Amino acid sequence: MVVEPAASVPPLPALHAVPEHVAIIMDGNGRWANERGLRRSEGHRAGAEAIRPVLERFGQHGVSVLTLFGFSTENWGRPRPEVQSILRLGGDFIDSHLGELHEAGVQLRHLGELERLPGWLQKRVARAVKQTQGNSRMILNLAFNYGGRADIVSAVQQLIAEGVPAEEVTEEAISCRLATAGLPEPDLLIRTGGEARMSNFLVWQATYSEYYFTETLWPDFGPAAIDAALIEFGQRQRRFGLVSNDGDEDDD
Ligand code: FPP
Repeated sequence: MVVEPAASVPPLPALHAVPEHVAIIMDGNGRWANERGLRRSEGHRAGAEAIRPVLERFGQHGVSVLTLFGFSTENWGRPRPEVQSILRLGGDFIDSHLGELHEAGVQLRHLGELERLPGWLQKRVARAVKQTQGNSRMILNLAFNYGGRADIVSAVQQLIAEGVPAEEVTEEAISCRLATAGLPEPDLLIRTGGEARMSNFLVWQATYSEYYFTETLWPDFGPAAIDAALIEFGQRQRRFGLVSNDGDEDDD
């Protein structure tokens, strides 16, 4: 048997600033598979296998929350076998990684409408969330059957169901009813795969995120690509609608 040498992992670069919360649209699995003459499901499998090392690298950099867009509310419209393969991979990911993620102090959370997922996946997600709820080293949010607009609609429905009067419907009142309640908003939103759009991801929460788009396809998004994204983040000037300290006139 030929033993492949372990791929060398570049040393961690020094960063000017580390985002607390990174959110990622994991795009490009299908193209990754096409380029290799493989089925799309093989691309999703490679995409699922990329997750653990990505979490590790961001954790080493000091990122404390990682949110991954695994399956959107729109993805139900894909061919049934592809939908089934993505859902199965979500379940497999939990089965194969729950133990070691728990030991590593990672808290798993789910963003999205759990009830519409198949019962077997709901059970796995619920078990993973329950088992890891006391962990505090890092939070991994799996957005599975998630849609940003549906998240806002759900928050508004909760406000109405609670009888909150109109004058008390504030941004804070909505934020604390979203799937990400209690978490910092994403500082950095990454999309792999070369497209530059939001695709109904964290539409409320990412208002002041820094956006980073890369051509790298998700299964290839390894340590060097992660470091490049974080280095660029460290060079951005975040102003949150204010003017910069040196008094220039930009207002965004
Ligand atoms: C986008 O690539 C990717 C998805 C819609 C699914 C992502 C799923 C995984 C990485 C696997 C399971 C997830 C978890 C959280 C364990 P695409 O199919 O749109 O690629 P393309 O744009 O190249 O066609």
